[in-house]
Amino acid sequence: MPKAPAAVTPRPDRALTSDNISPVSAPIMAALIAANHSAAASYGADDHSDKLNRRAQDIFECDLTMVPLSTGTAANALALSTLVEPFECIVTQQSAHIVTDECGAIGFYSAGAPFMLLNGQAGKLYPAEIKQAVQQARSLGVHHTNPRVLSLSQVTEWGLVYSLDELRALCDCAHELGLWVHMDGARFANALVSLNVSPAEMSVKAGVDILSLGATKNGAMAAEAVIAFDPSLQQKLHYRRKRAGHLLSKMRYLAVQWLAYWQDDHWLHNARAANALAQQLAEAIAPRTDMHCLYPCAANELFVEYSPALAQHLRQHGFDFYDWPHPTDPTRALWRWVTRFDLPASIVTDLLECLNQYHA
Ligand SMILES: Cc1ncc(COP(=O)(O)O)c(C=O)c1O
Repeated sequence: MPKAPAAVTPRPDRALTSDNISPVSAPIMAALIAANHSAAASYGADDHSDKLNRRAQDIFECDLTMVPLSTGTAANALALSTLVEPFECIVTQQSAHIVTDECGAIGFYSAGAPFMLLNGQAGKLYPAEIKQAVQQARSLGVHHTNPRVLSLSQVTEWGLVYSLDELRALCDCAHELGLWVHMDGARFANALVSLNVSPAEMSVKAGVDILSLGATKNGAMAAEAVIAFDPSLQQKLHYRRKRAGHLLSKMRYLAVQWLAYWQDDHWLHNARAANALAQQLAEAIAPRTDMHCLYPCAANELFVEYSPALAQHLRQHGFDFYDWPHPTDPTRALWRWVTRFDLPASIVTDLLECLNQYHA
């Protein structure tokens, strides 16, 4: 009997599966250790949490409510459940993480508020489609849930980034229709450095009402947050967080992660490193005829078409990536590559070398 090929262990320096596999970055780990010296007030009444609230206001240039959490799913579910009643719906794009990857958390937290799914394109939403769908739903009166919030992802689930003009147009359209705007910013920093704009410009100044802000994929151990820009949401958000079991008693350990994340532009530095590698990988494979990026590289994710045989070859050399459902043709193989701040630059030359050894 032929021997099965030995299983190849994926190598961390060649793994493109997810930015969640990154370690905690050194400054954030150092800040955690430095904060770990004595007892401190619980439930966010400590000095680090106090400092964090002021720092968040500097970063976003306005008054706000920041609620640190430890998962992005909790951030999205809390943010959205603060905005909707169970008989209202959340307008979003069909590939949104809140729809495809959160196990019904939004419905669970909101006592059943459903989604109204739009096709969009490459994870992006468009004002005309939103307007048409909202007006159509409202024309049905109580027979359809009432659209109440627009949720968009920046970076989108297909790795694209909304421009400021696109964001403003979406927020204006949503507000004219009486919708709140929620932004899933799990990769907010990657979008920021891609556009080279300020955090305020890409959120509150564009018209975003509530933001799920992620740091875990970009250097933190477990630090996500909801940031509400509208003061009327503050009380609801605080009660909902506690009821959902997300008010951490040792909140200071989340606060120090955020403070270190924002110190000396650490978050931008990490996101730039991740985005630059994605760009270099995209450029490296661009001349090849056996690989094709589905969308232009805008942040730190690429969606690459190539044969399963080539995928196997790469995996045998320690590369790894997720199989991804093709958005238009289920018969075509597609793979998601995600870069991250800790990935060494050598991955680009390693990949090219490995590809050059491949003969179909
Ligand atoms: C677009 C998006 N939103 C939110 C999340 C947060 O998910 P988690 O609950 O795993 O932190 C992720 C993580 O993969 C994501 O890609």
